[in-house]
Amino acid sequence: MQPVALVTGASSGVGEALAPLLAQRGYKVYGMSRREVDLPGVVALPADVADSAALEAAVARIITETGRLDVVMHCAGIGGAGPVEQMPTEQAKKIIDTNFWGSWNICQATLPHLRKSERGRLLLVGSIAGFMGIPFRSAYCASKAALKAMTDSLRMEVQGTDLQVAYIAPGDIATNSIATQYRQPVFDLAPIYQARYKKADDGMADNVDHGMTALYVAETMYRIMEKEELKPFYVIGAFVQRASVKVSRWLPGRLWEKVLGKYYS
Ligand SMILES: NC(=O)c1ccc[n+]([C@@H]2O[C@H](COP(=O)([O-])OP(=O)(O)OC[C@H]3O[C@@H](n4cnc5c(N)ncnc54)[C@H](OP(=O)(O)O)[C@@H]3O)[C@@H](O)[C@H]2O)c1
Repeated sequence: MQPVALVTGASSGVGEALAPLLAQRGYKVYGMSRREVDLPGVVALPADVADSAALEAAVARIITETGRLDVVMHCAGIGGAGPVEQMPTEQAKKIIDTNFWGSWNICQATLPHLRKSERGRLLLVGSIAGFMGIPFRSAYCASKAALKAMTDSLRMEVQGTDLQVAYIAPGDIATNSIATQYRQPVFDLAPIYQARYKKADDGMADNVDHGMTALYVAETMYRIMEKEELKPFYVIGAFVQRASVKVSRWLPGRLWEKVLGKYYS
C-alpha cells in the first residue's frame, strides 16, 4: 500500500520543499495551503487551516480518495511584528488563529486517521521562538509556545498507539515569510519603541535572509519522520540558535534577557 502524506504550507518555503520530496520518496502527497499548489507529484488541496470546516472537508477528500493517512507534516504558519502595546489586536489574533488554532484544527481533523496507520507520524512545525520571548514578536512567540505545550500534551495522550508526534523548532530559514507577514510600520509606534523596533525588525529580516535553506529543513524533517521513535522536540538550526534553547533555560532570567536583548535591540 502506498503511504499517504499531508503537507501543509505547501505553497511556499519548507512545505513547498517537503511536499515534492515526499512524493519522490514514494508517498502519495496532498499539499495544503490557501493558494493552490502546482508541484510535481503533489495533489493540490486548497484550504485555510484556521477554518475547521474547510479543513475537515479537505481531509475527508484524502480519505475518500485513498482510504488512509499516514503522515502529516504541518508546516503552515505566519509571522508578524509589532510591540505588545501597539500591535493591532486583529493582527496578533490572526497569528494565533493560524499558528495555534490552525494546528489544533489539523490535529482534530487528522488524528482519527493517523491513529489507524501502522506507522503514523505527525510533525508540527513550531519555532525556536516557542522556547523564549523575542522582542516585538510576542504574538508569534506565544503562538509557537502554545503549540509546543499542546504537542507535549498530545504526545502523552497518544502513548501506546502507533502514532509518533514531535514538535519541530527551526531557527531562521531563508523563505518568503518576512515579505508576506504583517510588520507594523515604525512611524505608527511611540517614540520609545521606534529605534529598538527598527533594529530588531531589520535584524530579524537579515537573519531570515541568511538562514538555512527550506530544502535543508525539509530533508532534516524527512529524516526525523523516518525514525522509529520520535523525541518530544527537534531544534533545527545553526549552532548558536540550537544552543540558545539550552542557554535560555540555564541562565538566570535577567542575564538571559540581557544576552537576547543585545542580539535583537
Ligand atoms: N522562515 C523562518 O525563518 C522560520 C523560522 C522558524 C519557524 N518557522 C516556521 O516554519 C513554518 C514554515 O515557514 P516558512 O518560512 O516556510 O513560511 P512561508 O514561506 O511564509 O510559507 C508559509 C506557508 O503556510 C501557508 N499558510 C499560511 N497561513 C495559512 C492558512 N491560514 N491556511 C493554510 N496555509 C497557510 C502559506 O500558504 P498560503 O499563503 O497559500 O495559504 C505557505 O504555504 C511556519 O510554521 C513558520 O512559523 C519559520
